[in-house]
Order: sequence, then structure tokens, then C-alpha cells
Amino acid sequence: MKILVATEKPFAPLAISQIRDVAEEGGHTLTLLEKYSSPEELHAAVADADALIVRSDIVDAALLAAAPKLKIAVRAGAGYDNLDLNGCTASGVVAMNTPGQNSNAVAELAFGMMLFSARGGFDGKTGSELMGKSLGLHAFGNVGRCMARIAAGFGMETCAYDPFVDHKAIRDAGVTPVDTIEELYSSCQYVSLHIPANDKTRGSIGEKLISLMPAGGVLVNTARKEVINEAELAEMMEKRSDIRYLSDVAPDNASLFAERFAGRYFFTPKKMGAQTAEANINAGVAAASQIVAFFATGDETCRVNKPK
Ligand code: 3PG
Repeated sequence: MKILVATEKPFAPLAISQIRDVAEEGGHTLTLLEKYSSPEELHAAVADADALIVRSDIVDAALLAAAPKLKIAVRAGAGYDNLDLNGCTASGVVAMNTPGQNSNAVAELAFGMMLFSARGGFDGKTGSELMGKSLGLHAFGNVGRCMARIAAGFGMETCAYDPFVDHKAIRDAGVTPVDTIEELYSSCQYVSLHIPANDKTRGSIGEKLISLMPAGGVLVNTARKEVINEAELAEMMEKRSDIRYLSDVAPDNASLFAERFAGRYFFTPKKMGAQTAEANINAGVAAASQIVAFFATGDETCRVNKPK
């Protein structure tokens, strides 16, 4: 079978060589499309692909129509909001993700941004420490768990809100569970987002929650920019000069932040939470292994779409 790795944002070369080894040991061939500049280029590349590995690359109806041989598409990463799940089902394509494989990289970036901000962007002036501060985890999945582990090392007090995880599992990780989202935002100086982007969460973080944050509140977003109500966030930052926003990738209204909120925000130039060699290897090799297992035995572990 022909496996195509199509990544606008390339994996590290070492990850590619390990992905290739897994594919070839499984009896498949691997082709590579990196840094493509248009959807058309991607659609041309999938024409003869049996399997596809992507990152945040868009797998939509147009791609599926251009890929008549496609049987499986794996998002090498956690969030699969870039995959048209119903479209995959309708086309008989199995869609998967690789949960947990890049979580530590994302959590380390969140802490990197928090330290950078707490120290005033390393400007030489007096900053503050993370030790003793409260950290609220909005969702307690794989990244949330990595955040909790790192936060313990910093001596932070960590709480989590996640209606899908029972309190005991949260407590067992050394984290205090809270019952309501309002309690999380009102009791934690740092709130870190670890929710997926879907119809329920898009635009869900706005004035109602941000206004609850205590003095010096810092909102940390390594999830998706789409979960933020950008207009309401900007309004809140206007009203409250103590609020800061740190995000892995700039919001659409980034120029407004530059004009009005200097020193109170940080945005990565490109989404880079999972941009470590380790995360690339973990997620890329997992994706390739899942494809090999799928073709060998029909294994559908990590499938995220419904069967036809
Ligand atoms: C994920 O959902 O796994 C992360 O956001 C990483 O996305 P990326 O592969 O585009 O870096």
C-alpha cells in the first residue's frame, strides 16, 4: 500500500526516517509531501494514496473526492478538528488520531509561555514566580495530566475542571477537582485550556469566564484559537489591565493586541506546541504503526469516526 505523509508543517527529519522504517517493515511504501502551498497540491498528491498521515492539514470533502483509493487517514496528534469525520465515514475512510503522543511537548510550551510572561518577557525587570500560584486546568486529558506533573515541580496549586473525568482520577494525579467551570476560573490565577475545538467549545471562552479570573489572571491557550471569543477577550483586556493572554498561535485580531495590550500577551508565530523532535517521532511513528496494524489485522484502535 502507498502511505502518504502530507504535512504543511514538516516533521523533524529523524521522525520521517523512523516513520519510513515502520511503513517499509510493514511492507508499504512511503511518499512525502511537505510545505505544500495550496490545497490543490495536497489533493494532487493523495490521488493514488491508500493511507494518509497528516498533522493540522485539512482533510475535507474536496480531499476525499481527490483520493479514490484512500482507506485510512491518521491525524498524527490529538485534536482532529481538521478531519471531516462524516465525510470520511461516507467515503469509507477510517479516521484516527494518536492520543497522548505529543502531550508533553504541548505542556512544556505552556510552561515556557507562563515563565516568559511571569518574567516580563525576560526584560531584566522584577517579575514573579510560578511557585505558590494557582493553576486551573480546563480539561484533564493527556495534556492536562502533563501540566499537573510539571506544575507539581514548580510548587503550584493545581485544580482541574473536567466533566468527563471522575474526581477520583483527578485527585489521584495530585490535583484538586472542581465541580463547576465558574469555580475554576474564579479560583485560579493561571487558567490553561486543554479542550478540543468542536461545536460546543468554539467561541466558548469569553467574558462570562474571563471576568471571573482573580487579579493578575493569565489565560494560557495551547488548545485551539477557535475556542476563544476574541472580541470578548479583547473587551475584557480593555476593562481589566491586569489580565494577560498567552497563546500558541495568534488570534485573528492580533494587530489589535499589538496596538492596545503591549506587554500583556504572547503569541507564537506558528502553532508549535507539538513542534519537538520527540513529539514528531512519537506521533508520526504511532500514526505509521496504526496504519500498518490496520492493513495487517483490521485493528481500528484510535478510530474517531463512525463506520459506514
Ligand atoms: C494536536 O492537536 O495534536 C496539536 O495541536 C498539534 O498540532 P500540529 O501537529 O499541527 O502541530
